[in-house]
Parts: sequence; structure tokens; C-alpha cells
Amino acid sequence: MGNEIKEIAKKNAAREAVKLIRDGAVIGIGSGSTVEYAVKFLIERVKNEDLEVYAVPSSTQAYFLLVGSGIRIVTLDEYPELDLAIDGADEISDDLDMIKGGGAALTREKIVDAAAKKLIIVVDFTKRVKRLGERAPVPVEVLPFACGFVMKKLTEMGGKAALRLAQRKVGPIITDNGNFIIDVRFGTPIDDPKELETKINMIPGVVENGIFTNMADIVYVGYKDHVDILRKD
Ligand code: 5RP
Repeated sequence: MGNEIKEIAKKNAAREAVKLIRDGAVIGIGSGSTVEYAVKFLIERVKNEDLEVYAVPSSTQAYFLLVGSGIRIVTLDEYPELDLAIDGADEISDDLDMIKGGGAALTREKIVDAAAKKLIIVVDFTKRVKRLGERAPVPVEVLPFACGFVMKKLTEMGGKAALRLAQRKVGPIITDNGNFIIDVRFGTPIDDPKELETKINMIPGVVENGIFTNMADIVYVGYKDHVDILRKD
């Protein structure tokens, strides 16, 4: 029952968010199960309302959701600035900072989200936290060559670092960029997300990390029977 309510909540958030998309828009498509619902609702709108929408996918998952859908796949080389991006999150705090990367797509997501004039986030109610790090680890994408070194540095920073392992494949998961993911838990909620985001990215061999500060503009939080809309002030 809990999971069923969560799925309804995701759908409610996704359905509401795609109403923002206008004819001719060039958008970024994030990754994850809530974004999957958003793409589904957008495809319905494109067909029913005869819209033209262009999209940059942030992952192989997003790419395959778009192929043959009626939404035109484009690149950041053609459109380095996007009208908006729609993405999900693993945690979102009261000041709209986020942890992302549950689907290991954080690097391209951060690029696509940063390219958007407005970043729209779709989450179910379980993703809201007072402070980041309450539940989710911080995912860090690393070059395979640097894995051991980066794990040592993250441990020295007080983190408990674990290489993310694949399911139904032996060994680590491989990202869309050919890298590994290290999940780090710092034991307590994160005091200063911006500082930690910057500090992790300073370690040589780190490609990107899943702390997204000061990026989200509008957040649709889905519940069983309603949607809360949070805005950056
Ligand atoms: C993938 C992500 C996803 O947006 C995040 O994991 C949320 O996914 P879901 O909507 O399935 O809960 O950051 O890298």
C-alpha cells in the first residue's frame, strides 16, 4: 500500500509539472521514475495538443524514453540554453538544495539542469527533508583509475565511502560516462551543502557529486491527493 501511494504521489507531481511546458519549448529531461511519469504525460500532451517540443536527455534512460515518442531529441551543442529542465531528486531540503544520483546519472543531470533557465523538480512526499544527508548518501562519480585514491580522501573528510555495486552484473555499476559511483555517508546531516559540494569536487579524479545547491526554481511535491508547489524565493 505504501508503495502504491508513493507511485500515485509521483504521478500527481509529474502531471502537474508538465503543464508548464509550452509549444516550441526546448527542455532538459532528467532521470528516474518520477521523470519517467513526466515524460509519459508530456508525450500525451504532445499528441493531444499537437505540440512541438525539443528535448535534451540527461541519461541513456531518458534517451530511450524519448526515442520515437514525438518529442524531438536535440543536443546541448544545438541548444546550450534550455527553456526549462524537469528532473527528480533523492532528497530536497527546505531551501531547495538537493541530493541526486540515485540513478547514477548525476553528472549529465547537473549539466542539463544548469543549462536550463528554470529547473523544475518533481518528487513524491518521501523526498522532503529538513537538512540534506538525513537519509540519502552523497553519490560521487569518479574516474575508475582514481577510485581508491578518492575513497581514501572521502574517508579522511569523515565520510563512510562505498563503491556502488551493480545488480545482475558482477562488480561496480558503470555510469553513462564509463565511470564508477562512490556513495558517501557523513553520519550526520550536512551543515553546509555548498561547501561540501565544492570540497568533494576539488578531489582529483572526482567527475561530479550529487549535491545540487541553489539550482531548483520550482518543486512539485506529490502527495496521494494533492501537490505542493515550492518556489525559490
Ligand atoms: C538519478 C536521479 C533521480 O532523479 C533521483 O534518483 C530520483 O529518482 P526517482 O524519481 O526514481 O525517485 O538523480 O540520478
